[in-house]
Amino acid sequence: MNPNSKDKPVLVIGAGGHAKVLVGALLRLGRPIRGLLDAERSRHGTMLLGQPVLGGDEQLEGVDPGSLLLVNGLGSVGLPIARQRLFERLTAKGFRFASVIDPAAFVSPDVAMAAGVQVMAGAVVQPGCSLGENCIVNSRASLDHDCSIGAHAHVAPGAVLSGEVRVGEGSHLGTGAVVIQGRSIGAGSLVAAGAVVVRDVAAGEKLAGVPARPLK
Ligand SMILES: CC(C)(COP(=O)(O)OP(=O)(O)OC[C@H]1O[C@@H](n2cnc3c(N)ncnc32)[C@H](O)[C@@H]1OP(=O)(O)O)[C@@H](O)C(=O)NCCC(=O)NCCS
Repeated sequence: MNPNSKDKPVLVIGAGGHAKVLVGALLRLGRPIRGLLDAERSRHGTMLLGQPVLGGDEQLEGVDPGSLLLVNGLGSVGLPIARQRLFERLTAKGFRFASVIDPAAFVSPDVAMAAGVQVMAGAVVQPGCSLGENCIVNSRASLDHDCSIGAHAHVAPGAVLSGEVRVGEGSHLGTGAVVIQGRSIGAGSLVAAGAVVVRDVAAGEKLAGVPARPLK
């Protein structure tokens, strides 16, 4: 069987809000879901959209990494460091992460996608774009032509990137943020919700407002 086969069961890591959106997409895609894992004990034994929360990460001990695919269900409201660490830790143990492309998203067929990419409902990804591993293009976000999204970056719901925008590894573009054409967002930077970015952003910068300026 192809190691990334769509017939393999998926296990979602995390059982919060972002995981709920992913499970909704996985159900509509008809993917077999084994369940969810979550560090929060109060969630163990509960159901999320009809899928069981089986326990914590310890459930992965003794599991053959080739027998299933993982889905990174951790969301982020700021820098996506926890998502990145989870992806790297479990990849190092031999697990693979499935990409989840919601059937209600538009992704141009030429778009280059690495492992574990997530594109949620209503998102638009136009020709010439590339999506790095473990990145999120969240609900109704829009990437116009030739944008590149670095590994682990999160383009939050409704963010709009004009053409030829480059987003560095591990950055967060907040809900409803706008980046005008051709700008570069450095690695590990944070753009607040609703900001309008009109200049290049240096690595590690935090910006907010219209036009976006350094956050105090
Ligand atoms: C930028 C952000 C991370 C700051 O969060 P925080 O560190 O908790 O900051 P606070 O809420 O304490 O606010 C600090 C200051 O920044 C201002 N501020 C916060 N968010 C802002 C925003 N989006 N735009 C403009 N100013 C903002 C606050 O008004 C406050 O100003 P003050 O000190 O003059 O009162 C957060 O507000 C944000 O925009 N997060 C992105 C949310 C998102 O994308 N969610 C996606 C979910 S899928």
